[in-house]
Amino acid sequence: MKSIYVTFIALAFAFFTLTEVEAGQIQKNANSNYVAVDSAKVKQKKPSEAEVGIGPIKEVKLGPINKSMVAEGKKIFNTKCFACHRLDTKLVGPALRPIVKKLPPVYLMNYLLNTTEMQKKDPQLKKLIKEFNGVLMPDQQLTKKEARSVLEYFRTVEK
Ligand code: HEC
Repeated sequence: MKSIYVTFIALAFAFFTLTEVEAGQIQKNANSNYVAVDSAKVKQKKPSEAEVGIGPIKEVKLGPINKSMVAEGKKIFNTKCFACHRLDTKLVGPALRPIVKKLPPVYLMNYLLNTTEMQKKDPQLKKLIKEFNGVLMPDQQLTKKEARSVLEYFRTVEK
């Protein structure tokens, strides 16, 4: 009798654990866009802050590379970011060539658009700021379109 109880509890535990994992699972689709798995059967969990950051962007759809956005993004990078960032070497801030591999697009755009709040609240960024001796990246006052163009440019420099 006792062993039946134990088995039942173990099964129930396994079931709940699996359900949680499924609800929180993140799928990388063909465009390396991050989409939370939407299953009607399980209670949907909001994607975590580590995936989306904090800010106005909830979703980014990545299509084929848009050349005019790339050109705009490159111009912005060279005028507004170059004082502190290079693609391959650490300067005042980190090297940014691998950035689209490191950060989900939504998170990246939210950091560019809501820099100050994210620096205060995002655990991942707090750690990064420590690594950069407490230097806070100033908000670059980009519009959504400009931030999206910078993202498009970063997609083309990724190795
Ligand atoms: C005055 C210097 C400065 C300027 C200008 C600047 N940054 Fe930064 N950036 C930093 C520093 C320092 C960090 C790391 C600490 C932090 O986030 O505050 C950083 C971090 C970042 C990160 C996060 C990197 C990671 O590994 O998670 C991104 C993305 C970024 N910057 C993009 C940009 C872009 C795009 C621009 C231009 C639109 C820009 N930065 C302009 C100094 C700067």
